[in-house]
Amino acid sequence: MEVIILNDPEAVSALSARRIAQLVRAKPTAVLGLATGSTPLRLYKELIRLHQEEGLDFSEVTSFNLDEYIGLAADHAASYRYFMQENLFRHINIAPERTHVPSGLVAGPDIARYCAEYEEAIVRAGGIDLQILGIGSDGHIGFNEPSSSLASRTRIKTLTQRTREDNTPFFDNPDDVPHHVITMGVGTIMEAREIHLLAFGDKKADAIADAVEGPITANVPASVLQMHPTVRLFADEPAASKLARRDYYRWVYDNKPAWQAF
Ligand code: PGA
Repeated sequence: MEVIILNDPEAVSALSARRIAQLVRAKPTAVLGLATGSTPLRLYKELIRLHQEEGLDFSEVTSFNLDEYIGLAADHAASYRYFMQENLFRHINIAPERTHVPSGLVAGPDIARYCAEYEEAIVRAGGIDLQILGIGSDGHIGFNEPSSSLASRTRIKTLTQRTREDNTPFFDNPDDVPHHVITMGVGTIMEAREIHLLAFGDKKADAIADAVEGPITANVPASVLQMHPTVRLFADEPAASKLARRDYYRWVYDNKPAWQAF
């Protein structure tokens, strides 16, 4: 795992955006895996700036989002479809029909078939070239809560109380946070060709230390990323503060040869 620690979240988000821009310029039909929550907001602002000021062209890009709350329609202000429209899609020239966010309105026995179709759509698009991830304070990726199978596929999951509490700021009332979600599985995420894990703030420090330097365990789903050949962690100082080898990671990054930079 390449660990990139910088002082401020803007700088580290801009680096992730620069790598995404490099990918999209080299492969205009790139398939991006996208995330929601507060973590990727600065990254999306930078992608919007790159589109508006530097002509970064998303017209042939396809996107797949990680997850969605069950029960929320696309026009609900806390739904992840709404989040993506407001914070990225409507500001860039991505084709609406090539943006995929799981529907929160599938119900009952249809969910399993819907999830299988979401997986098939990813395969038909050629697989995910680059997946953006945040991390939950409990170590989740997507909404794969602790104890999720490390081989899991897109499916319905039940949120932990901790995740529901972490996500209350996005809802009017804590009781409104849904219990159930559709999420890409850990196995689905692991098939992306490249993964950017973003983490900011001291609330993420324990999860990042466990994910990067702890044992691989379903109790910290992000720890499975240790098995992926091309993962970059973009962290600010507070999120990286509990990494035992942070001085080593800093030295490696500061001394990276120019030809490896993106
Ligand atoms: P956050 O959520 O970006 O709102 O902190 C991250 C996550 O739950 O994956």
